[in-house]
Amino acid sequence: MDGNGRWAAAKGLPRVMGHQAGVEALKTTLRLCSDWGISALTAYAFSTENWSRPGQEVNFLMTLFEQVLQKELHSLEREQVRIRFLGELEALPEVLQQRIQDSTERTAGNTGIHFNVCTNYGGRRELVRAAQRLARQAAEGLIVPEEIDENSLAAELFTTGEQDPDLLIRTSGEQRISNFLLWQLAYAEIHVTEVYWPDFNAITLKQALMDFQSRQRRFGGLDTRQS
Ligand code: FPP
Repeated sequence: MDGNGRWAAAKGLPRVMGHQAGVEALKTTLRLCSDWGISALTAYAFSTENWSRPGQEVNFLMTLFEQVLQKELHSLEREQVRIRFLGELEALPEVLQQRIQDSTERTAGNTGIHFNVCTNYGGRRELVRAAQRLARQAAEGLIVPEEIDENSLAAELFTTGEQDPDLLIRTSGEQRISNFLLWQLAYAEIHVTEVYWPDFNAITLKQALMDFQSRQRRFGGLDTRQS
């Protein structure tokens, strides 16, 4: 959700107002994805690197996550959204951890869109954690190292049980992966838009989906239409 700070600065507002506006864009995007039959939406809300931001901004974000969860839980339940948080959640404030646990449990049986919020998430850290978990299982004699394959590694990632994303949307013109879902994005199509996240809406989402539809996905093979 890049560009919250720049959106605010361009309007002469404090950065945190950009995050507040970003929540509205996220709610709109989630509802559109749900209405348009998209089965999962994963948002990058807070990276392991974001702790290095000024304390005030970090505190604002933690409180914002908590307030949004409290305010929106009923809508998530009503709209059949299944919410999950991906990342090292133990490092988050206690109150936020409780809200996360509560909202995850209360929506776990929902049958609609999977809404994943990456919070204190880092792609490299996720891979290291998966390697550690597999190594521990091997040391305990539960698995044989030679039998570790892509499926067993994927099962130790935060995203276990989720399908890999088909489309990565980057706002505010950034053209980097920035430590986001490094394993899972292996074959994702990338759409870059200049729009700042708070301005992301139905029009820009539709543009991203149409761009996605125009791609020929080969997954390393040959275009089936040529064979
Ligand atoms: C990146 O923009 C955005 C963030 C670090 C925070 C995004 C979080 C939300 C919109 C709240 C979501 C709430 C819930 C409960 C899921 P930036 O600050 O890097 O902007 P810049 O690139 O312009 O500096």
